Amino acid sequence: MPKISIIVAADENNAIGKNKQMLWHLPYDLKNFKDLTSGHAVVMGRRTFESLPAGALPNRKNIVLTGVPEAIIDNVFVCTSIEESLSLCDKEEEVFMIGGALVYKQTLPMSDKLYLTRVHHVFKDADTFFPEIDFTQWNEIKKEEHPADEKHAYPYTFHHYLRKKME
Ligand SMILES: NC(=O)c1ccc[n+]([C@@H]2O[C@H](COP(=O)([O-])OP(=O)(O)OC[C@H]3O[C@@H](n4cnc5c(N)ncnc54)[C@H](OP(=O)(O)O)[C@@H]3O)[C@@H](O)[C@H]2O)c1
Repeated sequence: MPKISIIVAADENNAIGKNKQMLWHLPYDLKNFKDLTSGHAVVMGRRTFESLPAGALPNRKNIVLTGVPEAIIDNVFVCTSIEESLSLCDKEEEVFMIGGALVYKQTLPMSDKLYLTRVHHVFKDADTFFPEIDFTQWNEIKKEEHPADEKHAYPYTFHHYLRKKME
């Protein structure tokens, strides 16, 4: 089994999206996402796939979850369950769950690592949220703060967490 990782950017209230889109444009977070996920498998829900501006993400094994597999025609692997998506990744070292909320909700309990970009703002009109994180189950292994600047309207922090081992 590969290591299951979640990668997400969420605001101070865990908001992750609005009207099927992201709530912010943070180019350095996008670069960080690309650097971390390139060369690996990425699993996403059908709505997140449809929100990608240029379709499948290059240099990654793209796996899209849907209950209606015949509706997806792009150059991706299509699966109808989380288990099926993981079975396609049995040769992978690490598989990234890249959203959206429905996929995060199902996979947070089984994930080993959490890459969280915390965007330091509250977006009042968000409609999609990451599930509540029980931080007692996680050890923080990295924290990197970034201020707002001319290209980044909000300050943000990269956090990496590893799930604590069972006693
Ligand atoms: N901030 C971030 O880091 C981040 C990351 C990703 C996405 N987002 C945002 O999140 C929002 C989309 O999230 P969402 O929760 O609405 O949708 P989603 O999780 O992207 O997609 C949901 C769809 O995926 C399919 N699906 C999910 N679990 C499945 C399973 N176990 N088996 C089969 N199919 C399954 C279903 O597709 P069918 O309806 O086709 O059956 C379901 O309707 C957007 O606003 C997006 O921009 C934010």
